[in-house]
Amino acid sequence: MLEDKQRWNEKYRTMPMPSGVAAVVARFAPLAVTGRGLDIACGTGRHTHYLADLGFEMDAVDYSDYALAQLRDDAKIRRIEADLDSYDLEPGRYDLIVNCNYLDRRMYASIEAALKAEGILIFETFLDAAGEAGYHQPSSPDFVLRSGELPEVFGALEPLHYDEREEVNLRGEKVRVATFVGRKRPL
Ligand SMILES: C[S@@+](CC[C@H](N)C(=O)[O-])C[C@H]1O[C@@H](n2cnc3c(N)ncnc32)[C@H](O)[C@@H]1O
Repeated sequence: MLEDKQRWNEKYRTMPMPSGVAAVVARFAPLAVTGRGLDIACGTGRHTHYLADLGFEMDAVDYSDYALAQLRDDAKIRRIEADLDSYDLEPGRYDLIVNCNYLDRRMYASIEAALKAEGILIFETFLDAAGEAGYHQPSSPDFVLRSGELPEVFGALEPLHYDEREEVNLRGEKVRVATFVGRKRPL
């Protein structure tokens, strides 16, 4: 929605956002064939840039034109300004898909289908703090994972890693996070 896009543009102008590469991306991206990668809701491109440096041809999708403008000009990076609510992924296109700090359950099936055989999915985002006091989390349940959700929905992938943990965000607030890594089984 246009309104949400403007809200994200404003957040990027006014709030600190993570700029380092998530540990899980650094650890598991090298397991993928260095072919085509997708960064879902790429933001200002912390993972897009890192993966392009590793040699991946990156599709970087986000609807914030402000965030996309921060991506460097690079033949290995394709900026795609699109609303993921209605963006269709091409089946069998990617060796690696990264989805960090973003949740759109509508995309679960198409993410799995968009992986090539033996392609790797790295998925990390906020986990429901289940009403526990002292935790910050996105206001809508649509944007927070349930405990155990990712291994369940991506059960057809070979699981390589799963954890649920507590972290402190850049504003010093406690958050819960879940991380799943899986590999699509060979045909
Ligand atoms: C918390 S940021 C995460 C950015 C990046 N994945 C990272 O981990 O640094 C969430 C991103 O999702 C994007 N976003 C939210 N809803 C979207 C939608 N419907 N379509 C495309 N992008 C969206 C925002 O513009 C923002 O860049």
